[in-house]
Amino acid sequence: MNILEVEHLSKVYEGRVPHRALNHIQFTVRAGEFTGIMGPSGSGKTTLLQVIAGIDEPTAGEIRIGGINPHQLGRQETALFRRRELGFVFQHFHLLDTLTVGENIVLSLSLDGVPVKEMERRQHEVAAKLGISDILDKRTYEISGGQMQRTAIARAIIHRPSLILADEPTGNLDSKASRDVMETLEAINRQEEATILMVSHDAVAASFCHRVIFIKDGKFYNEIYQGSNRQAFFQKIINMLSLLGGDSRVLSTVRL
Ligand SMILES: Nc1ncnc2c1ncn2[C@@H]1O[C@H](COP(=O)(O)OP(=O)(O)O)[C@@H](O)[C@H]1O
Ligand SMILES: [Mg+2]
Repeated sequence: MNILEVEHLSKVYEGRVPHRALNHIQFTVRAGEFTGIMGPSGSGKTTLLQVIAGIDEPTAGEIRIGGINPHQLGRQETALFRRRELGFVFQHFHLLDTLTVGENIVLSLSLDGVPVKEMERRQHEVAAKLGISDILDKRTYEISGGQMQRTAIARAIIHRPSLILADEPTGNLDSKASRDVMETLEAINRQEEATILMVSHDAVAASFCHRVIFIKDGKFYNEIYQGSNRQAFFQKIINMLSLLGGDSRVLSTVRL
């Protein structure tokens, strides 16, 4: 079953000089798949995630999540759809620093009126899974970057969304914390059968995916599958990136 269908999606940013950020991009993501998106900076990765998330409107084409086109929903329905069906993980974490770690995790549930007892039960369950049970009462400025991202992942999965969207989730972490976060995402994908679509610059992070889709100038360029060997997949990713060109940064992060 496909969770996500992207059909001939285009996005043109109007302006003095209109810019085509996405150009007839097309792919599907199956339930339970862990898919990476890579491409040079400026190739349209963030735009793609934002259109999928319903934050930005497509210029042409359409997307469906669980058969529903979020761009056809009304304003309020879109907000609900996003809160219930999607989970977000960002490079800069986007946690609320006026709330504790525990409060950040259950925010979507409290907005949805889930009873306190049930909220607490799920908070503890998800915190245990992510190894952050002992920091639930801390503020976000009292914890490390890796802990912040694990908090953000807990927040993204607590409502069991159909699709988790992650934009450079390791972009602000050192290599140890990056690996930690990728192992966590991999475990969530495996244990909960969570469907994840992750944009990354980092070939090591991308090597945790089942498949990596490469985009260039807003167009689908190629895709490769992991198979059974992550080390070999990493090498294939590096080779594809050098073919793709345009961004030397990806090649400077070789640390397996
Ligand atoms: N809000 C916007 N208005 C105009 N142009 C934009 C906007 N957002 C992104 N762009 C342009 O669209 C292209 C794709 O950007 P983006 O999706 O952020 O790329 P990536 O995430 O792959 O680095 C870039 O050339 C960028 O400058
Ligand atoms: Mg981006």
